Amino acid sequence: MNQPHLRPLTSIIITFLAFSTLLPSSEVAAQPSGFNYNESRVPDFSLPELLKLQDGSAVTSAQQWRSNRRPEVLALFQDHVFGQQPNAVPRLRTRERSRKQDALEGRAVRREITVFFSDNDNGPSMDILVYTPADAETPVPCFMGFNFHGNHSVDPDPAIHITTSWVRDDSKRGNIDHRATEKSRGKSSSRWPVEMIVSRGYGVATIYYGDVDPDFDDGFKNGIHSILEPHTTARAGNAGGSISAWSWALSRGLDVLEMDPLVDGSRVSTFGHSRLGKTSLWAGASDERFAMVISNDSGCGGAALSRRRFGETVKRINTSFPHWFCINHRQYNDNENASPVDHHMLMALIAPRPVYVGSAEKDLWADPHGEMLSLFHAGPVFELLGRKGLPNDNVATVNQPIQTDVGYHIRTGKHDVTDFDWTQYMNFADRHLK
Ligand code: GCU
Repeated sequence: MNQPHLRPLTSIIITFLAFSTLLPSSEVAAQPSGFNYNESRVPDFSLPELLKLQDGSAVTSAQQWRSNRRPEVLALFQDHVFGQQPNAVPRLRTRERSRKQDALEGRAVRREITVFFSDNDNGPSMDILVYTPADAETPVPCFMGFNFHGNHSVDPDPAIHITTSWVRDDSKRGNIDHRATEKSRGKSSSRWPVEMIVSRGYGVATIYYGDVDPDFDDGFKNGIHSILEPHTTARAGNAGGSISAWSWALSRGLDVLEMDPLVDGSRVSTFGHSRLGKTSLWAGASDERFAMVISNDSGCGGAALSRRRFGETVKRINTSFPHWFCINHRQYNDNENASPVDHHMLMALIAPRPVYVGSAEKDLWADPHGEMLSLFHAGPVFELLGRKGLPNDNVATVNQPIQTDVGYHIRTGKHDVTDFDWTQYMNFADRHLK
């Protein structure tokens, strides 16, 4: 039977579903329907034990954690969640692309450093935009994280080069035909309060994630995959997805900062929002040189416990973003309890280094309470290593940060990065990096 009134509606829904995964997250419905946002409907589950080796024996000392259990957990995340990071370390070449000694009205030194991943100037490369306080007399502690829209989107400064890498189309932002335009300058500055950060004595370094691996499913041919991956054989089930590629590049950023005279490479914290928060956690877990790790609204596949199935689920994330995780991760679609890990173990991989998880009240898609519970359940490892985890698993009070050797807050508002978030991250860094 002809049902003309249904057709437009169906096509609208299909169009929405098709495009919602491509749009910048700020423009996607905050809470897609068909998922659970109700605490009383969280299923019962038990978490894999952190302090038990795969052969069943108990881990009772810091030494056993370090030598036996930590390597096991790391391998489990490599094999079942994110996939391996590229294991080739190409010879990096760097070139200072620009420098301004008196940026931000004299408060900061601003540099753009190009990092080439091969001997070819036209091959894959990434630009690190670094601000350091102009009045610093010694190398400063620094936050480093990816941005979503190009380094030029971080600050309106007309001297910052506009990225020529692939960007997501967004006409309001000025991204047309996957290229950024002048219009997009400074459009993400609210997420990068560079002045506030340098005025507190920190450096801030950011990289456009699309320089490293453009965020769409191309079978891992572009970005760094073009030089690091031979495309002769089928990908292994534990070959790294884009999150592994991005996090690997954060380590390459750290390689550069370690050599930098203005930054103290032993006091660099990763930072990231949302998918880039997942990246920040995986970078911090994989590379113990990072002195601190920050996850902002990282949700499913990041700080949140997958077994809660609250908001975004494993199946949904693997379906919408097939390139983020490894192929093996798909085994846990609607099957979270079968996974040998959950994300409290990702937090534990960061211990004893400080880790901070920021959530937002309206960001139910990212499961704020589940993000806190991961940190809470990593507690036994922090304690074993002589650090303090979260004091309890009570639902946290909005806008009241908890900071021990780990930090957590849930602030009012939506999925975003705000000055409130940065203020807490810097307060936490004051305790741990200064
Ligand atoms: C989507 C995705 C999330 C992700 C977010 C983002 O909402 O489902 O997992 O964190 O995009 O990165 O903005």
